[in-house]
Amino acid sequence: MQSLIPVDLPQNSYEIAIASGALAQIGDRLKALNLGKKVMVVSNAVIFQHYGQIVLDSLAAAGFEACSHILPAGERHKTIHSIQKLYDTALENHLERSSTFIALGGGVIGDMTGFAAATWLRGVNVVQVPTSLLAMVDAAIGGKTGVNHPRGKNLIGAFYQPKLVLIDPQVLKTLPVREFRAGMAEVIKYGIVWDRELFEQLEAAPRLDHLHDLDAKLLHEILMRSCQAKAEVVGKDEKEAGLRAILNYGHTVGHAVESLTGYRLVNHGEAVGIGMVSAGQIAAAMQLWSAPEADRQNALIAKVGLPIHIPPMVSVEAIIEALQADKKVQAGKVRFILPQAIGQVIISDRVTADTLNTVLSEQFQPEPCT
Ligand SMILES: NC(=O)c1ccc[n+]([C@@H]2O[C@H](COP(=O)([O-])OP(=O)(O)OC[C@H]3O[C@@H](n4cnc5c(N)ncnc54)[C@H](O)[C@@H]3O)[C@@H](O)[C@H]2O)c1
Ligand SMILES: [Zn+2]
Repeated sequence: MQSLIPVDLPQNSYEIAIASGALAQIGDRLKALNLGKKVMVVSNAVIFQHYGQIVLDSLAAAGFEACSHILPAGERHKTIHSIQKLYDTALENHLERSSTFIALGGGVIGDMTGFAAATWLRGVNVVQVPTSLLAMVDAAIGGKTGVNHPRGKNLIGAFYQPKLVLIDPQVLKTLPVREFRAGMAEVIKYGIVWDRELFEQLEAAPRLDHLHDLDAKLLHEILMRSCQAKAEVVGKDEKEAGLRAILNYGHTVGHAVESLTGYRLVNHGEAVGIGMVSAGQIAAAMQLWSAPEADRQNALIAKVGLPIHIPPMVSVEAIIEALQADKKVQAGKVRFILPQAIGQVIISDRVTADTLNTVLSEQFQPEPCT
């Protein structure tokens, strides 16, 4: 099974290739793109241990000269300091304008490698080889690259499109289950904002909370439809002038919950799941969306094993304060992405403080009956 999904942009169009076993074909696929002989593979220790050799062997067999740089794992290392280290390795190995950086990892590795490629020698090629579900369906596509500043996430960055996104579903076998579920939050997001059929396919699956519950066909379908949704939206609005903002569905309250829990207790996907529940309930309260459809969304989020309640250590007041500080506030108003139907959303700044208060207050775990 192989799918090729085009990302059509005014300049720098590219393809997303999804194929089981694709990792071992990376050398030939790069060769077909006529990229220069020198490449630098960027990864972290865990991922490189699993998949580094397959990639290096394939590159060598296709005649590439490869070096590698292993960065420490984790969001806290997504810093300009790590970028500096990548530049050092690029310099030591004489990488040139025609050279290619290969990001072999999750979104953290992908964002950093993309940013380093955007800036090294004013831009070398980058190929994204996402290994987490979240990176496959989201981070690796669309050209947003960057690192964190001590005062905020993703504050330093560039739009820089890859030459290729290469997805090998087989690598998901080693992904921790919590990371799998985090990725599924973004998959459900595409169902709500863009692709009703994807949503219904997920609903029809008997179980979804572990990778091993998905047969190869359903996994391929999930990857293909999610990548297609992202590619279509980015193709219509590369630099987020308008439409691309719909991909922030669930991320308004989500980012607040994520930052208020220190980016650890609740991870990104879990926060997005909670945020989608909030947005759905807001849309239902404003009578933009039918309550039964909002319930279907919430049931699907629970079915993949994601939390739907706001954790008790976070307060409604703190969330509202965090929303005010968020990048999605324009002219003092909080912008929400709100569903009108499964597969269709609008962007709204008309959510009142009252609605927000009521919905968030109701989203805490009910006290157990005694
Ligand atoms: N550029 C974008 O458009 C975009 C979109 C969404 C998220 N992001 C960024 O992506 C990052 C989150 O990405 P993520 O969720 O992939 O996190 P991550 O990169 O930290 O990966 C999650 C964990 O899974 C491990 N892992 C990944 N693949 C594995 C595999 N196949 N086997 C075993 N372990 C594996 C990683 O080592 C890590 O510990 C954030 O920094 C976020 O800002 C960017
Ligand atoms: Zn997200």
